[in-house]
Amino acid sequence: MFRSFYISGNVNLKMMSGNVNFKLMSCIDLEETRRDFPILERKIRGKSLVYLDSGASSLKPIQVIDAVREFYLKEYSNIHRGIHYLSQQATSRYEEAREKIAKFINANGPEEVIFTYGTTDSLNMVAYSYGLRALKPENEIFLTVMEHHSNILPWMHISSITGARINYIDITDDGLLDYERIDREIDEKTKIFSVTHMSNVLGTIVDVRRIARRVHEVGGVIVVDGAQSVPHMPINVRELEIDFLAFSGHKMLGPTGIGVLWVKHDLLDDLHPFRLGGGAIRDVTLNDFMLLDPPNSFEAGTPNIAGVIGLATAVEYLQRIGMDKVRRHEEELTSYTLGKLEDLEDYITIYGPKNVSVRGGIITFNIRGLDSNIVGSLLDSYGIAVRTGKHCAHPLHRRLNIDGSVRASIYIYNTREEIDYLASALREIISEAK
Ligand code: ALA
Repeated sequence: MFRSFYISGNVNLKMMSGNVNFKLMSCIDLEETRRDFPILERKIRGKSLVYLDSGASSLKPIQVIDAVREFYLKEYSNIHRGIHYLSQQATSRYEEAREKIAKFINANGPEEVIFTYGTTDSLNMVAYSYGLRALKPENEIFLTVMEHHSNILPWMHISSITGARINYIDITDDGLLDYERIDREIDEKTKIFSVTHMSNVLGTIVDVRRIARRVHEVGGVIVVDGAQSVPHMPINVRELEIDFLAFSGHKMLGPTGIGVLWVKHDLLDDLHPFRLGGGAIRDVTLNDFMLLDPPNSFEAGTPNIAGVIGLATAVEYLQRIGMDKVRRHEEELTSYTLGKLEDLEDYITIYGPKNVSVRGGIITFNIRGLDSNIVGSLLDSYGIAVRTGKHCAHPLHRRLNIDGSVRASIYIYNTREEIDYLASALREIISEAK
């Protein structure tokens, strides 16, 4: 077992010496991209920061930080409430952001984009605004065992109110879903199938279109948790044939506290806002009220205006790179990372699909015999940021029969040199532990 928790971090991150040409190693210009993220220049515990925790939250480029700062500094006002210039300008920027985000996911129109506080809020919104009325005791909700708690807990609550039963789809040993089994298991009782698009632990990319087609055949709807997919791959909600998509700004270069619930146009009238108040209504009497049309009817209260502006800037940034390139870069780097970790397979267990065409840049593993939090602390002493523990996915960890895991999650600013450094650090940790 472990002799010491204090490891010197003898390995060096060569890329920081400045003699590596990143351009040759990725379809993204990594040198230029990394310059946009000033935090990457930081030293952490005396080492150059290697940020491999974008699955929890991404770093922010200077363009996003500047957009938020400029808004507060020179343009700030509330929206939808004022006749004055600043309020009108802020309202225009807020609504333009909605249009930009609608185009980013190829929505039918901006009215399908509801701003929320994040993926968790968006999923709660579907559960309360749609599920509460759509579900009857004889109905069934389907989830998978690899869902994040945010896509389990709201449904448990709605199930306890409506009496609708929750069924879970298991994963295969490779961390994939068995679609033929899904075809067989769902039937006319299925009203809602809520599923991650990319597992935040296994990286598994789910074929949501395939599930959508079957769910629609039986008259249900499909809710997709896009927290880990929307930041990392091209998303076309119409091609995916889904009904709801939830995602967060902070995992895609945007600020915290801003997210989106996309709702297919035909379903908007079936939703009943559960958060009511100012900004969402057309008229109120002492006994009654009349709501505005969606999406405003779902955005009661003063929203995160600066967050929306920051998110639109993040979307512009990603579009400038191109989402197909983002995906290609991550596919290559994931494959590279898996290769490096497989070199250590005598000591390391890797979770999730082996085939990178069906997985994203989330690489979760354990060093056998070592607690994930200890490994995380040791990596921290090398300046490497990873997430450890159960990643808000307790049922999945139970299914895998493990107490926790170490998760390295990559994004547009990560390089092969950082992965080499991670692998060297793991080698040192393993040899100290032997
Ligand atoms: N949901 C985020 C994660 O998986 C916080 O890390």
